[in-house]
Amino acid sequence: MYTSVADQTTDQLGGPLSVLVRQKRDHVRLNGLIGQLRGTTGEDQAAVLLAVYRLVFPHAFAEESVLWPVMRRVLPDGGELTLAVEREHQEVNELVQKLEGLDDGTPERADVLGRLSEVLDDDVRDEEDALFPRLQERVSRRELQVLGVLWEAVRLVAPTRAHPVVARRPPGNVVAALPLSVLDRGRDVLDRVLLSAPERLVPALHRVSSALAGASHAVELLPIMRSGEHSSTRLVAGRPPVSWGAALVAAAAGSLVRAEVVGIARRRRRDSG
Ligand SMILES: [Fe+2]
Ligand SMILES: [Fe+2]
Repeated sequence: MYTSVADQTTDQLGGPLSVLVRQKRDHVRLNGLIGQLRGTTGEDQAAVLLAVYRLVFPHAFAEESVLWPVMRRVLPDGGELTLAVEREHQEVNELVQKLEGLDDGTPERADVLGRLSEVLDDDVRDEEDALFPRLQERVSRRELQVLGVLWEAVRLVAPTRAHPVVARRPPGNVVAALPLSVLDRGRDVLDRVLLSAPERLVPALHRVSSALAGASHAVELLPIMRSGEHSSTRLVAGRPPVSWGAALVAAAAGSLVRAEVVGIARRRRRDSG
């Protein structure tokens, strides 16, 4: 019988640097955000969802590229255990993608939101109650701390949006990280600006946001982004909306767009302040 990470102190989990302490902290934050999600609509819901995405996607990406490969190496049944959580991550990606096409206030959107909360909760329980106590048994306190620093470093630069087409395993997800992260973070800045933008700027901001979304979709459909994928987490995707060349140019342009939008937001704050 294992003691859940939820019931252990910071010291038992390996100290403040440990990956288990960092995981637990994020899980508590996620729980709070899921609570806020219930009962919100419209712009309030969009703001909470944006915060959920910013928390969940880099968190899961860093698990898939740093932690699960270690689990597979140190545990005889690591492949099976990690595949179960990779399937949960895949479902979260697919649900969020579905959510983006559903109108506010519809019963279908409420169903997808309900299922999203459920899967996120299951993922946290599986990690805290089963996976992490098993990892804890196999690696030293020092190793938990090194994994914590590595996991945090990857999390800081990881993509922040749903990418159900990309492999949940290396090397595909590692190759996808840089271009998708640049495009996602550009869209995050745009979406935050959109929440309080003057009416006349909204259509232009929407157009830039859609262009970045299209570019990101084209990048994720590059065959190399699927390498390493297990067949049970594979999404059958359609044809790319734009050519690979255009997608790569757009990925590079994403960082410039982001810098420009940040500049606009700063100028607006200065002018109104
Ligand atoms: Fe986690
Ligand atoms: Fe997870």
